[in-house]
Amino acid sequence: MKITLSVIKADIGSIGGHLRPSKALMETVNKHLEDKSGSLVLDYRISNTGDDIAILFSHREGIGSSAIHELAWDAFINGTAKAREEGLYGAGQDLLKDSFSGNIKGLGPAIAELEFEERQNEPFILFAADKTDPGAYNLPLYLGFADPMHCSGLILSPKMSKGFKFVIMDVEYTEKDRYIELNAPEDLYDIAALLRDNERFVVSAIYSRETGEQAVAASTTRLHNIAGKYIGKDDPVMLIRVQGAFPAAGEVLSPYSIGHYVAGFMRGSHTGPLMPVKTGSGISFFDGPPVVTATAFCVQNGKFTEAVDCFDHPYWDYIRRKVARKATELRRQGFSGAAMLPYSELEYGGIVEKMEALDKKFRT
Ligand code: F6R
Ligand code: MG
Ligand code: MG
Repeated sequence: MKITLSVIKADIGSIGGHLRPSKALMETVNKHLEDKSGSLVLDYRISNTGDDIAILFSHREGIGSSAIHELAWDAFINGTAKAREEGLYGAGQDLLKDSFSGNIKGLGPAIAELEFEERQNEPFILFAADKTDPGAYNLPLYLGFADPMHCSGLILSPKMSKGFKFVIMDVEYTEKDRYIELNAPEDLYDIAALLRDNERFVVSAIYSRETGEQAVAASTTRLHNIAGKYIGKDDPVMLIRVQGAFPAAGEVLSPYSIGHYVAGFMRGSHTGPLMPVKTGSGISFFDGPPVVTATAFCVQNGKFTEAVDCFDHPYWDYIRRKVARKATELRRQGFSGAAMLPYSELEYGGIVEKMEALDKKFRT
């Protein structure tokens, strides 16, 4: 019998700015789930990455279940009340609509869901990132699933020699889901051509071409497309099943050693390197740097094992130092050129009025 993993995350308030939710807020969300999950949910876990709270569920309700989505929505609504009571900053920030309407998609929180028949052993990793957007996963997914420089299994494992199918979403198209399916390795250059543009094209799913099974589900929400104005970056979540016909845990983690530059950082308006951090880490330097956490589990009959925090290992201390150096170097040039995002990405902020006012003062 199939199970579904759903991860639903939102920023509903944090301490000291957009830094980290309070313990009481986390407890409130947890308590709601403890009280209300009942028989609907097989298991759940909550965690925070920067100012965002992610709820991971396993259940048998399938993808897009309104009961599951509503449970998460209500937990965030309850949390928001606590955040207001405590005077947390940005209480309810990501809950963009007043009421729940059947599906959490389009209401603000980010969501990724995977439905599958459990393998005999079912290891998977929950990724969550803060101060960046869904395109942040493009490069690590390309390298982890299509490049033998990181995914040695593409050469070494007969179960992976057929490669993977990428589903790539055009997130600028907001009327419907507009997506393309491309196969690695044949379409590698086309995949790269699209994934080059992290702000427009985003990997939403990846499938094994050996078994047809889905390995990856990633969130593709762009909040400004919902709100019509800038209200924070989209802080994406992602689920990846690993091992066997899928890349090993270490292969999908390997690309995070690059600390590649992504969009986000201060006011969601800058470029910064993505720093792999321990789950529960807050935000600091220049409202960043953009961070990503990776929490690994096995799931059996819908029950989660304890979590392993993948970036809580001495190796990643070395990477964090490198990434901190990259962040510092780019920050030295402040607003100039590559350090700040192009105008198209800033257009939901105050800069629009500023540019309009300046435009009137130009003379020819
Ligand atoms: C970026 C982010 C922060 C805020 C910044 C200003 O995603 O959340 O960098 O943009 O702290 O926040 P406000 O406008 O709430 O004062
Ligand atoms: Mg925030
Ligand atoms: Mg956030």
